[in-house]
Amino acid sequence: MRKISTVTVVGSQWGDEGKGKITDFLAERADVIVRYQGGPNAGHTVVVGEETYKLHHLPSGILYRGKICILGNGMVLDPLTLQTELQELKKRGVFPERLFISDRAHLIMSYHKALDELEERERKGAQIGTTRRGIGPAYVDKVFRIGLRCGDLLDEEELKKKIREILLVKNRIFKNLYDHPGFSVEEIENEYFPVFQQLRPYVKDTSVLLDGEIQKGARVLFEGAQGTMLDIDHGTYPFVTSSNPIASCASTGAGVGPEIVANALGITKAYTTRVGEGPFPTELNNKVGEHIREKGREYGTTTGRPRRTGWLDGVALKAACRINGFRSLAITLLDVLSGLDEVCIATAYRCGDTVLEHFPAQLHILEKCTPVYRVFKGWQANIAGAKTLEDLPIEAVDYLRGLEEILQVKISLVSVGPRRDQTIVLSDIF
Ligand code: GDP
Ligand code: IMO
Ligand code: MG
Repeated sequence: MRKISTVTVVGSQWGDEGKGKITDFLAERADVIVRYQGGPNAGHTVVVGEETYKLHHLPSGILYRGKICILGNGMVLDPLTLQTELQELKKRGVFPERLFISDRAHLIMSYHKALDELEERERKGAQIGTTRRGIGPAYVDKVFRIGLRCGDLLDEEELKKKIREILLVKNRIFKNLYDHPGFSVEEIENEYFPVFQQLRPYVKDTSVLLDGEIQKGARVLFEGAQGTMLDIDHGTYPFVTSSNPIASCASTGAGVGPEIVANALGITKAYTTRVGEGPFPTELNNKVGEHIREKGREYGTTTGRPRRTGWLDGVALKAACRINGFRSLAITLLDVLSGLDEVCIATAYRCGDTVLEHFPAQLHILEKCTPVYRVFKGWQANIAGAKTLEDLPIEAVDYLRGLEEILQVKISLVSVGPRRDQTIVLSDIF
């Protein structure tokens, strides 16, 4: 049997764990980098020397020359912002020479973005706090079987016919539910057709392409967006995104067999953040929470919103380890915790008279949970220059070892700053 050399990078919390940084770090040794779900709701920051790149659709491997980058069938793509992302990179000297877009990936259109706005407005006090990028409505259309796919761009006459049919359905919703004029065929064609033409050359059956590369022995990195707690099935429903970021869904979203995506690496921030609404048991609405927000520059990459901050949640992480089958963890932003007297990890939740070991499905239970913490001694030293575990204060090492003990999963990488060279490798990943 051929040797499989792949890594699946998955967020283990509520997104923004540093997936972009770790994917970029690992991409040096990869041949192919694949995004398998989500769309421009993602904001993956990659720092290369003095340059900072914020990627929304494109895999965080695009910054190396010669790598094959794939936007998988599980994604939803906004052609307008994808085009802008490509143009901005080109202006900065990054040319996506080997970029491929799955012919089965779905398109986010202006009516999806309008619906995302209108639906959030209708939810009044119960908003999800979406990124308003049209993600939910585009996935709804996929499941409702009225989505446009990238493969549809290849035949203009068929495409026009499909748009006409889709708008008949969509406009009924706009007019009857939202008192909105809806969208005309001409308006959509004028706005989108010039961009469609430019994206057409990238469209391909990427499952076939990827399989061919794997047969040749290519090393493949699968890059998840969002995180396990935002997963539509396993996250804090309904305060979740509309796709499956978990490792097994890299198989569905890239069009490969499950064994190809099994080497899952859980990207775990040394504390917790969340953007948007929804439960967050270890949230810190105090000075420590502010310290973390300011030191970690915890403001959204996509929307600029301040991120909510809190202690590491071992209960949520235990669920993430189980659901994804993480082979190891990459701990990121450890440097942000320097300067605190103590640091905590939740090991269980107390809910009335009961102690919960496992993350509950029901929101009303979760909302009543208070964390049971294991408290660790903090450390004061700046660790941004640490190159090995020995360079870290003993208290920081104890914190990492304590986390391994709680989760029963080993740590393979520790990140102490946004740059590539601020990464401590404890064991081989590929
Ligand atoms: P992603 O969505 O998971 O890719 O994460 P984001 O890019 O949205 O947010 C992570 C932020 O932390 C980015 O600004 C990164 O540049 C930054 N970052 C990543 N790793 C580290 C680290 O180890 N230390 C510090 N201080 N910043 C980091
Ligand atoms: P990356 O890949 C953090 C959150 C939104 C909202 C919920 C639903 O950078 O980690 P959506 O627009 O997807 O319908 O919003 O999910 N969300 C994210 N939070 N990081 C992300 O991506 C996110 N993508 C979506 O804030 O709460
Ligand atoms: Mg992000």
